[in-house]
Amino acid sequence: MYPFSEGSYAVRNAWYVVAFSHEVTRSLMERWILNEPVVLYRREDGVAVAIAGRCPHRHFPLAAGSLQGDTLVCGYHGIAFNSDGRCVRIPTEGRTHSSFDIRKYPLVERWKWLWAWTGDPELADEALIPDHEAINLGRAESPSFPVSYHLVNGRYQLMHDNLLDLSHLAFLHSTKIGVEEVATTRDTVSSGPNWVRSMRLVEDAPSPPAIRERFGDAKLSQLIDFTFYAPALHVGLNRFELDVVTENESPTKVRLIDSIVFHAVTPATKHLTHYFFAVTHNIQDPSDLDNSKVKALALAVIEEDLRATELIERMLQGLDEKIRDRLTAGDTAVDKGRRILQSMMSAEARILNLSIPK
Ligand code: FES
Ligand SMILES: [Fe+2]
Repeated sequence: MYPFSEGSYAVRNAWYVVAFSHEVTRSLMERWILNEPVVLYRREDGVAVAIAGRCPHRHFPLAAGSLQGDTLVCGYHGIAFNSDGRCVRIPTEGRTHSSFDIRKYPLVERWKWLWAWTGDPELADEALIPDHEAINLGRAESPSFPVSYHLVNGRYQLMHDNLLDLSHLAFLHSTKIGVEEVATTRDTVSSGPNWVRSMRLVEDAPSPPAIRERFGDAKLSQLIDFTFYAPALHVGLNRFELDVVTENESPTKVRLIDSIVFHAVTPATKHLTHYFFAVTHNIQDPSDLDNSKVKALALAVIEEDLRATELIERMLQGLDEKIRDRLTAGDTAVDKGRRILQSMMSAEARILNLSIPK
Protein backbone atom coordinates (compact mmCIF):
# COMPACT_ATOMS: atom_id res chain seq x y z
CA MET A 1 0.00 0.00 0.00
CA TYR A 2 1.05 3.62 -0.58
CA PRO A 3 3.83 4.60 -0.42
CA PHE A 4 5.14 1.07 -0.52
CA SER A 5 4.95 -1.54 -3.24
CA GLU A 6 1.80 -3.58 -3.67
CA GLY A 7 1.42 -6.17 -0.91
CA SER A 8 3.76 -4.39 1.51
CA TYR A 9 2.06 -3.16 4.66
CA ALA A 10 4.40 -3.14 7.67
CA VAL A 11 7.53 -4.80 9.04
CA ARG A 12 6.41 -7.72 11.21
CA ASN A 13 9.63 -8.97 12.77
CA ALA A 14 10.09 -5.92 14.92
CA TRP A 15 9.45 -4.38 18.33
CA TYR A 16 6.79 -1.69 18.50
CA VAL A 17 5.65 0.41 21.44
CA VAL A 18 2.18 -0.83 22.23
CA ALA A 19 1.38 1.16 25.38
CA PHE A 20 2.79 3.39 28.06
CA SER A 21 3.35 1.37 31.24
CA HIS A 22 0.71 3.28 33.19
CA GLU A 23 -1.97 2.37 30.65
CA VAL A 24 -1.72 -1.37 31.35
CA THR A 25 -3.39 -2.41 34.58
CA ARG A 26 -5.48 -5.26 35.98
CA SER A 27 -8.29 -4.17 33.64
CA LEU A 28 -8.29 -5.73 30.18
CA MET A 29 -7.29 -3.35 27.41
CA GLU A 30 -7.65 -3.91 23.68
CA ARG A 31 -5.13 -2.41 21.27
CA TRP A 32 -4.76 -3.37 17.61
CA ILE A 33 -1.25 -3.90 16.25
CA LEU A 34 -0.47 -4.59 12.59
CA ASN A 35 -4.12 -5.31 11.88
CA GLU A 36 -4.53 -7.77 14.76
CA PRO A 37 -6.47 -7.23 17.99
CA VAL A 38 -4.34 -7.70 21.09
CA VAL A 39 -5.43 -7.74 24.71
CA LEU A 40 -3.11 -6.32 27.35
CA TYR A 41 -3.22 -6.70 31.14
CA ARG A 42 -1.03 -7.18 34.17
CA ARG A 43 -0.77 -10.51 35.94
CA GLU A 44 -1.21 -10.53 39.71
CA ASP A 45 2.58 -10.33 40.07
CA GLY A 46 2.57 -7.08 38.08
CA VAL A 47 4.09 -8.46 34.88
CA ALA A 48 2.38 -7.08 31.75
CA VAL A 49 1.23 -9.57 29.12
CA ALA A 50 -0.12 -9.32 25.58
CA ILE A 51 -2.20 -12.10 24.02
CA ALA A 52 -4.48 -12.30 21.00
CA GLY A 53 -7.59 -10.19 21.42
CA ARG A 54 -10.02 -12.32 19.42
CA CYS A 55 -11.61 -15.46 20.84
CA PRO A 56 -11.02 -18.47 18.54
CA HIS A 57 -14.54 -19.75 19.30
CA ARG A 58 -16.84 -17.06 17.90
CA HIS A 59 -14.43 -14.13 17.51
CA PHE A 60 -15.76 -12.30 20.57
CA PRO A 61 -13.35 -9.56 21.73
CA LEU A 62 -11.42 -11.00 24.63
CA ALA A 63 -10.98 -7.52 26.15
CA ALA A 64 -14.73 -7.67 26.81
CA GLY A 65 -14.20 -10.74 28.99
CA SER A 66 -12.92 -10.82 32.58
CA LEU A 67 -9.90 -11.81 34.61
CA GLN A 68 -10.02 -14.59 37.18
CA GLY A 69 -6.62 -14.32 38.78
CA ASP A 70 -4.31 -14.37 35.76
CA THR A 71 -6.77 -16.31 33.61
CA LEU A 72 -8.76 -14.47 30.98
CA VAL A 73 -12.32 -15.74 30.62
CA CYS A 74 -14.16 -14.96 27.41
CA GLY A 75 -17.33 -13.01 28.08
CA TYR A 76 -19.44 -14.93 25.56
CA HIS A 77 -19.27 -18.69 26.36
CA GLY A 78 -16.62 -18.77 29.08
CA ILE A 79 -13.66 -20.35 27.29
CA ALA A 80 -10.60 -19.46 29.39
CA PHE A 81 -6.96 -18.74 28.53
CA ASN A 82 -3.93 -18.41 30.75
CA SER A 83 -1.45 -15.54 30.41
CA ASP A 84 0.60 -17.61 27.93
CA GLY A 85 -2.45 -17.82 25.65
CA ARG A 86 -3.00 -21.51 26.41
CA CYS A 87 -6.65 -22.58 26.51
CA VAL A 88 -7.32 -23.89 30.02
CA ARG A 89 -11.08 -24.44 29.99
CA ILE A 90 -13.88 -25.09 27.52
CA PRO A 91 -17.05 -25.18 29.68
CA THR A 92 -19.10 -27.25 27.23
CA GLU A 93 -16.45 -29.96 26.96
CA GLY A 94 -14.74 -30.56 30.28
CA ARG A 95 -11.41 -30.77 28.44
CA THR A 96 -9.26 -28.41 26.42
CA HIS A 97 -7.89 -28.44 22.90
CA SER A 98 -4.56 -26.98 21.86
CA SER A 99 -6.32 -25.80 18.68
CA PHE A 100 -8.01 -23.21 20.94
CA ASP A 101 -4.66 -21.81 22.12
CA ILE A 102 -4.15 -18.18 21.17
CA ARG A 103 -1.09 -16.20 20.33
CA LYS A 104 1.10 -14.71 23.02
CA TYR A 105 3.17 -11.66 22.03
CA PRO A 106 6.65 -11.21 23.47
CA LEU A 107 6.40 -8.05 25.59
CA VAL A 108 9.17 -6.03 27.21
CA GLU A 109 8.71 -3.21 29.70
CA ARG A 110 11.48 -0.71 29.28
CA TRP A 111 11.57 2.82 30.73
CA LYS A 112 7.88 3.81 30.91
CA TRP A 113 6.52 1.97 27.94
CA LEU A 114 5.88 -1.54 26.65
CA TRP A 115 7.40 -2.97 23.49
CA ALA A 116 5.59 -5.83 21.74
CA TRP A 117 7.11 -8.14 19.13
CA THR A 118 4.71 -8.69 16.26
CA GLY A 119 6.57 -11.29 14.20
CA ASP A 120 8.02 -14.75 14.65
CA PRO A 121 8.50 -15.16 18.45
CA GLU A 122 11.68 -17.20 17.80
CA LEU A 123 13.28 -14.03 16.44
CA ALA A 124 12.25 -11.74 19.31
CA ASP A 125 15.67 -10.55 20.38
CA GLU A 126 15.45 -7.79 23.04
CA ALA A 127 18.76 -6.39 21.82
CA LEU A 128 16.85 -5.13 18.76
CA ILE A 129 14.99 -2.56 20.91
CA PRO A 130 16.81 0.79 20.57
CA ASP A 131 19.26 1.12 23.47
CA HIS A 132 17.40 3.40 25.92
CA GLU A 133 20.53 4.49 27.74
CA ALA A 134 22.17 5.49 24.47
CA ILE A 135 19.15 7.51 23.33
CA ASN A 136 19.03 9.34 26.65
CA LEU A 137 15.76 7.89 27.81
CA GLY A 138 15.35 7.52 31.54
CA ARG A 139 18.65 8.87 32.80
CA ALA A 140 18.44 10.27 36.33
CA GLU A 141 20.21 13.52 35.42
CA SER A 142 17.83 14.28 32.56
CA PRO A 143 14.23 13.52 33.46
CA SER A 144 12.04 11.91 30.81
CA PHE A 145 8.30 11.79 30.87
CA PRO A 146 5.50 10.41 28.74
CA VAL A 147 3.47 13.27 27.29
CA SER A 148 0.64 11.75 25.32
CA TYR A 149 -0.85 8.86 23.39
CA HIS A 150 -2.93 9.40 20.25
CA LEU A 151 -4.87 7.12 17.93
CA VAL A 152 -4.36 8.73 14.53
CA ASN A 153 -6.78 8.42 11.61
CA GLY A 154 -4.11 7.77 9.03
CA ARG A 155 -1.64 5.13 7.85
CA TYR A 156 1.55 4.96 9.88
CA GLN A 157 3.90 5.99 7.07
CA LEU A 158 2.33 9.44 7.02
CA MET A 159 3.66 9.93 10.56
CA HIS A 160 7.12 8.72 9.54
CA ASP A 161 7.07 11.04 6.52
CA ASN A 162 6.10 13.89 8.83
CA LEU A 163 9.01 13.26 11.17
CA LEU A 164 11.56 12.68 8.42
CA ASP A 165 10.85 15.97 6.62
CA LEU A 166 11.05 18.67 9.26
CA SER A 167 10.92 21.48 6.72
CA HIS A 168 7.22 21.37 7.64
CA LEU A 169 8.03 23.16 10.91
CA ALA A 170 8.31 26.38 8.91
CA PHE A 171 4.76 26.19 7.61
CA LEU A 172 2.57 23.72 9.49
CA HIS A 173 3.88 25.01 12.84
CA SER A 174 4.60 28.61 11.84
CA THR A 175 2.54 30.06 14.67
CA LYS A 176 4.34 27.98 17.29
CA ILE A 177 7.78 26.54 16.71
CA GLY A 178 8.65 27.13 13.06
CA VAL A 179 10.54 29.77 11.13
CA GLU A 180 11.13 29.90 7.38
CA GLU A 181 14.89 29.33 7.83
CA VAL A 182 14.23 25.74 8.95
CA ALA A 183 12.88 24.97 5.47
CA THR A 184 15.57 26.86 3.57
CA THR A 185 18.47 25.26 5.49
CA ARG A 186 19.28 21.89 3.93
CA ASP A 187 19.58 18.96 6.29
CA THR A 188 22.56 16.62 6.33
CA VAL A 189 21.35 13.06 6.03
CA SER A 190 23.24 9.95 7.06
CA SER A 191 21.99 6.40 7.37
CA GLY A 192 22.71 2.80 8.24
CA PRO A 193 20.89 -0.46 7.50
CA ASN A 194 18.03 0.39 9.87
CA TRP A 195 18.38 4.05 10.78
CA VAL A 196 18.30 7.48 9.15
CA ARG A 197 19.57 10.69 10.68
CA SER A 198 18.64 14.19 9.54
CA MET A 199 20.55 17.06 11.07
CA ARG A 200 20.34 20.77 10.40
CA LEU A 201 21.85 23.74 12.13
CA VAL A 202 19.89 26.90 11.54
CA GLU A 203 22.04 29.86 12.48
CA ASP A 204 21.21 33.46 13.14
CA ALA A 205 17.51 32.90 12.60
CA PRO A 206 14.63 34.78 14.18
CA SER A 207 12.98 33.23 17.24
CA PRO A 208 9.91 31.13 16.55
CA PRO A 209 6.76 32.48 18.23
CA ALA A 210 6.84 30.10 21.22
CA ILE A 211 10.46 31.00 22.01
CA ARG A 212 9.84 34.70 21.50
CA GLU A 213 7.00 34.51 23.98
CA ARG A 214 9.29 33.01 26.60
CA PHE A 215 12.66 34.61 25.96
CA GLY A 216 11.92 37.75 23.93
CA ASP A 217 12.94 38.62 20.39
CA ALA A 218 16.49 37.56 19.56
CA LYS A 219 18.52 35.85 16.86
CA LEU A 220 19.05 32.22 17.69
CA SER A 221 20.80 29.17 16.47
CA GLN A 222 18.72 26.06 16.35
CA LEU A 223 19.98 22.52 16.08
CA ILE A 224 17.47 19.93 14.89
CA ASP A 225 18.95 16.47 14.94
CA PHE A 226 16.53 13.59 14.40
CA THR A 227 17.18 9.87 14.02
CA PHE A 228 14.65 7.31 12.85
CA TYR A 229 15.23 3.85 14.29
CA ALA A 230 13.28 1.76 11.80
CA PRO A 231 10.58 0.72 11.99
CA ALA A 232 9.20 2.18 15.18
CA LEU A 233 10.92 5.12 16.86
CA HIS A 234 12.13 8.65 16.14
CA VAL A 235 14.47 10.37 18.58
CA GLY A 236 15.08 14.07 18.06
CA LEU A 237 17.23 16.71 19.67
CA ASN A 238 15.95 20.30 19.62
CA ARG A 239 18.48 22.82 20.87
CA PHE A 240 18.02 26.59 20.87
CA GLU A 241 21.00 28.77 21.69
CA LEU A 242 21.34 32.51 22.00
CA ASP A 243 24.59 34.23 20.99
CA VAL A 244 25.49 36.71 23.70
CA VAL A 245 28.22 39.25 23.01
CA THR A 246 29.48 41.24 25.96
CA GLU A 247 32.10 43.97 25.93
CA ASN A 248 35.69 42.75 26.08
CA GLU A 249 34.64 39.14 26.04
CA SER A 250 34.38 36.62 23.28
CA PRO A 251 30.84 35.69 22.25
CA THR A 252 29.24 32.94 24.27
CA LYS A 253 26.27 30.74 23.60
CA VAL A 254 23.47 30.60 26.13
CA ARG A 255 21.38 27.49 25.86
CA LEU A 256 17.70 28.33 26.10
CA ILE A 257 16.12 24.98 25.33
CA ASP A 258 17.68 21.58 25.09
CA SER A 259 15.16 18.81 24.76
CA ILE A 260 14.99 15.35 23.27
CA VAL A 261 11.68 14.18 21.88
CA PHE A 262 10.59 10.60 21.34
CA HIS A 263 7.94 9.66 18.81
CA ALA A 264 6.94 6.00 18.76
CA VAL A 265 4.83 5.09 15.73
CA THR A 266 2.98 1.77 15.65
CA PRO A 267 0.71 0.55 12.84
CA ALA A 268 -2.69 -0.26 14.36
CA THR A 269 -4.66 -1.15 11.24
CA LYS A 270 -4.09 -0.24 7.60
CA HIS A 271 -5.51 3.23 8.15
CA LEU A 272 -4.99 3.80 11.88
CA THR A 273 -1.81 4.48 13.81
CA HIS A 274 -0.78 4.54 17.47
CA TYR A 275 1.41 7.47 18.32
CA PHE A 276 3.27 7.84 21.62
CA PHE A 277 5.08 11.04 22.50
CA ALA A 278 7.63 11.52 25.28
CA VAL A 279 10.21 14.16 26.18
CA THR A 280 13.54 14.42 27.99
CA HIS A 281 14.88 17.75 29.16
CA ASN A 282 18.58 18.23 29.65
CA ILE A 283 18.50 20.82 32.37
CA GLN A 284 20.55 21.54 35.45
CA ASP A 285 17.63 22.38 37.66
CA PRO A 286 14.31 20.69 36.93
CA SER A 287 12.44 23.50 38.67
CA ASP A 288 13.57 25.76 35.79
CA LEU A 289 11.08 24.03 33.62
CA ASP A 290 7.38 24.65 33.63
CA ASN A 291 6.27 21.24 32.47
CA SER A 292 2.64 22.21 32.08
CA LYS A 293 3.57 24.95 29.56
CA VAL A 294 5.96 22.67 27.67
CA LYS A 295 3.29 20.00 27.56
CA ALA A 296 0.62 22.40 26.34
CA LEU A 297 2.90 23.61 23.54
CA ALA A 298 3.86 20.06 22.55
CA LEU A 299 0.21 19.03 22.40
CA ALA A 300 -0.71 22.02 20.26
CA VAL A 301 2.10 21.15 17.81
CA ILE A 302 1.10 17.47 17.76
CA GLU A 303 -2.47 18.47 17.01
CA GLU A 304 -1.24 20.20 13.85
CA ASP A 305 0.75 17.11 12.81
CA LEU A 306 -2.19 14.80 13.39
CA ARG A 307 -4.52 17.08 11.49
CA ALA A 308 -2.13 17.11 8.51
CA THR A 309 -1.88 13.31 8.65
CA GLU A 310 -5.63 12.87 8.80
CA LEU A 311 -6.18 15.31 5.93
CA ILE A 312 -3.65 13.45 3.76
CA GLU A 313 -5.24 10.09 4.60
CA ARG A 314 -8.51 11.55 3.35
CA MET A 315 -6.79 12.65 0.12
CA LEU A 316 -5.48 9.12 -0.42
CA GLN A 317 -8.94 7.61 -0.56
CA GLY A 318 -9.58 6.46 -4.09
CA LEU A 319 -6.16 7.61 -5.30
CA ASP A 320 -4.56 5.39 -7.89
CA GLU A 321 -1.64 3.99 -5.89
CA LYS A 322 0.53 4.04 -8.98
CA ILE A 323 0.54 7.83 -8.76
CA ARG A 324 3.66 8.54 -6.74
CA ASP A 325 4.15 11.65 -4.65
CA ARG A 326 6.84 14.03 -5.90
CA LEU A 327 9.89 14.38 -3.71
CA THR A 328 12.04 17.49 -3.20
CA ALA A 329 15.62 18.03 -2.05
CA GLY A 330 14.16 18.21 1.47
CA ASP A 331 12.98 14.61 1.19
CA THR A 332 16.30 12.80 1.30
CA ALA A 333 15.54 11.40 4.75
CA VAL A 334 11.94 10.55 3.77
CA ASP A 335 13.17 8.63 0.75
CA LYS A 336 15.83 6.82 2.76
CA GLY A 337 13.38 5.92 5.53
CA ARG A 338 10.90 4.51 3.03
CA ARG A 339 13.61 2.50 1.29
CA ILE A 340 14.74 0.97 4.58
CA LEU A 341 11.19 -0.05 5.51
CA GLN A 342 10.53 -1.39 2.00
CA SER A 343 13.69 -3.49 2.07
CA MET A 344 12.79 -4.87 5.51
CA MET A 345 9.31 -5.80 4.25
CA SER A 346 10.63 -7.27 1.01
CA ALA A 347 13.15 -9.40 2.92
CA GLU A 348 10.35 -10.74 5.15
CA ALA A 349 8.17 -11.48 2.11
CA ARG A 350 11.03 -13.41 0.47
CA ILE A 351 11.48 -15.57 3.58
CA LEU A 352 7.74 -16.16 3.74
CA ASN A 353 7.64 -17.20 0.07
CA LEU A 354 10.53 -19.58 0.59
CA SER A 355 8.81 -21.26 3.53
CA ILE A 356 5.53 -21.81 1.66
CA PRO A 357 5.89 -25.10 -0.28
CA LYS A 358 5.08 -24.70 -3.97
S1 FES B 1 -16.75 -16.53 21.64
FE1 FES B 1 -15.40 -16.79 23.25
S2 FES B 1 -16.17 -18.50 24.29
FE2 FES B 1 -17.46 -18.27 22.60
FE1 LIG C 1 5.39 18.50 13.13
